[in-house]
Parts: sequence; structure tokens; C-alpha cells
Amino acid sequence: MESCRKTAIYPGFFDPITNGHLSIVSRGLDLFDRLIIAILNNPKKEPLFSIDERMGMIQEALKGNPNIEVDTFDGLLVDYVLHKKSNIILRGLRALSDFEYEFQMALMNRKLNRDVQSVFLMTDYKWFYISSTIIKEAASFGGDVSGLVPKFVNNKLKEKFSNRKKA
Ligand code: PNS
Repeated sequence: MESCRKTAIYPGFFDPITNGHLSIVSRGLDLFDRLIIAILNNPKKEPLFSIDERMGMIQEALKGNPNIEVDTFDGLLVDYVLHKKSNIILRGLRALSDFEYEFQMALMNRKLNRDVQSVFLMTDYKWFYISSTIIKEAASFGGDVSGLVPKFVNNKLKEKFSNRKKA
């Protein structure tokens, strides 16, 4: 029955998607029927990858999964969650350092709308130390990030940083 299916929103910048994000997606699908991966389109932040590139990489990583939708949003997350007829925000937790930020965000989202619940899942321990930021940092200096992101993301990172060197 369509109306009973639970949809969770997994928001973030995903600049770019990493194996840590993919671990949360796979765990999220153990709990929820559908996931909407929602990329924040924030013109104030200067991402490495455009919104279309980020969407494309996520779609490529998860292609063929009918229970996943990839979308973009701007404005308040809680408004987007309700607009998508959900009441669940899914977030990943890595080491202790994530906790303070996530706790603050969850409480603010709760203050903004009490009907929306935040659910946290731990990434697989293999990805505990990785983030999009640290991946970009290593890749920008030619570091080998293979095995931490999907292969085509690694290729895109190499392409992006070699183009930047040329420019
Ligand atoms: O990938 P990130 O940086 O951890 O994602 C952060 C994100 C996009 C989830 C967060 O910045 C967000 O929800 N922004 C939307 C604006 C909003 O609703 N802010 C109020 C709650 S803190």
C-alpha cells in the first residue's frame, strides 16, 4: 500500500558522494522503504562540483535502484521534508566530532517543526575517518583516494584537479 510506505530524506552537500554516504544509503534502505537523497543547492557555498555533476555522480552510484530518488532543495530542510510528504531526516554519524554539529542541527530542526524526526545511523567503521572535504583535500594534492569513493568519482576528482592545474 503506497500510503504506508516510509520515506526518509537524506540531505547533504555530497560534494562529492563518498563510500561513507553510500554506507548510510544502504543502511537507510534496511529501515525505510524509500530514500530521497536531497542535495542542498546553496549559492553561498562554492562547491567543487556543480549541482548537476553531484546529481549525476549520485545517480551513477545508485543507478537502477527504484527505491531511491535524487533531488535538490534550497531553503529550510524541514519545509522540504514536509513538501516531500515525509517526516524523517536521515543523517550519518562518524566519529564523536560529528555529534555536536548533528545534535545542534537536529534540535534546531525540531524547534522549527516538531513533526519532523531526525534519525542517525553509523557509517561502516571503514569510512569513519572520511568526509567529502578530506577526500577533496587529499585529491587536490594528488593523493590516492581510490577505494574511498566510487571509481567514477575518483576519475572526476582527478579530471577536476588536473584541469585546475592547467588553468
Ligand atoms: O553535507 P552537510 O554539510 O553535512 O549537509 C548539511 C545540511 C545540508 C543537511 C544542512 O546545512 C541543511 O539542512 N541546510 C538547509 C538549511 C536549514 O534547514 N537550516 C536549518 C537547520 S540547521
